[in-house]
Amino acid sequence: MNILLLGSGGRECALAWKIKQSPKTENLYIAPGNAGTAAIGTNVEIQATDFDTLGKFALEKNIDMVVVGPEDPLVKGIYDYFKQHEELKRIPVIGPSKEGARLEGSKEFAKGFMMRHHIPTARYESFTRDRLEAGYAFLDTLNPPYVLKADGLAAGKGVLIIDNLQEAKDELKQMLDGMFGTASQTVVIEEYLSGIECSVFVLTDGKDYRILPVAKDYKRIGEGDTGLNTGGMGAVSPVPFADTVFMKKVEERIVKPTVEGLKKENIEYKGFIFLGLINVQGDPMVIEYNVRMGDPETEVVMLRIQSDLVDLLEGVAQGNLREKELVEDPRCAVTVMLVSGGYPGHYEKGKEISGLDSVTDSIPFHAGTAFKNGKIVTSGGRVIALSSYGATKEEALARSFKSAQTVSFEGKYFRSDIGADL
Ligand code: AMP
Ligand code: GLY
Repeated sequence: MNILLLGSGGRECALAWKIKQSPKTENLYIAPGNAGTAAIGTNVEIQATDFDTLGKFALEKNIDMVVVGPEDPLVKGIYDYFKQHEELKRIPVIGPSKEGARLEGSKEFAKGFMMRHHIPTARYESFTRDRLEAGYAFLDTLNPPYVLKADGLAAGKGVLIIDNLQEAKDELKQMLDGMFGTASQTVVIEEYLSGIECSVFVLTDGKDYRILPVAKDYKRIGEGDTGLNTGGMGAVSPVPFADTVFMKKVEERIVKPTVEGLKKENIEYKGFIFLGLINVQGDPMVIEYNVRMGDPETEVVMLRIQSDLVDLLEGVAQGNLREKELVEDPRCAVTVMLVSGGYPGHYEKGKEISGLDSVTDSIPFHAGTAFKNGKIVTSGGRVIALSSYGATKEEALARSFKSAQTVSFEGKYFRSDIGADL
């Protein structure tokens, strides 16, 4: 098969690595990709949201499947775009329809969906500017901390967790007044849930599903999970607390009603569902849905899938996922993200990266890298994810930390406590 993968981060590098291993893969193109994906397949200079150009490219190269990494093209309707064009509709797009992508694109829609299908999630109400006073009144009924969520996509910054009631009211007003542009025209206010989080990924063809290896990511920049939120500083899989009993609850209370709910509401969905879960005293509750794989979770989840990913994706596209097997690798996998100094605030790009060729114990997945004068340089906040296997989490971590010393660039930073809380 000729496969076109969209995106340019660590997630896409890990997906490319796994797709490339399949005997079914003939040609792999990544649009736009990064310096890491260039070593796995062929990078194509097309943005993941430039549907017209992607469509032309897909025809020109006889693409048999489009795999979508990030949410943006899904929320903008790439699935529907291919479906609606006569010459493109034979090419399956792995991902939900535009309607299905609202599970990530609109927090209000996601919460409504969970209510309709009795999926456990935090109590909430949503508000627009004309209901500001009602929003204040709802905040009065909650206990701190207060959780305010911009309804739409806000580049991962749309969730505020605030301890003080007055401050929460002030922020609510600012959000409704356009703090995140149109994304915060509607704000979801919800009850704060206390517990430890994990990420569960589901692959569905709209009828059946397969649950991928469970992972946990580390979002804050500082050790001990302190400081600003980032795109993700590391991840581990499996997750000790997500044992058989917990995962059975996830499947019965969340995965099944989600897939059933999509079917009942006639929402086309052939792709990944990302369940952001929180373990509230042994009971899983949904913090959020995403309609794609997670980053950096993908950088560990791909290591833990023994089965042929392309075969599974073919099952999704053809609607016979029921016949496909997903075998997990029994080993542990971890990833440690090397980031640019200053990230997630201001940071410099274009720093030369050295030592990548000397990494022997880990798989370096490029997140934010580019070529400059024939050299690999930094081009983002998150630069390289160093993923490793181990018989235990500790063994895998030791490998990633060793590799983290091997790779260098000016300003390099990483968290040395990934997985330490588990
Ligand atoms: P989201 O963008 O929805 O993933 O939210 C970002 C982060 O905020 C989550 O990963 C959680 O750590 C936290 N969060 C969101 N909603 C809640 C909630 N209801 N209770 C506690 N923490 C939350
Ligand atoms: N790691 C969380 C995310 O991809 O949204």
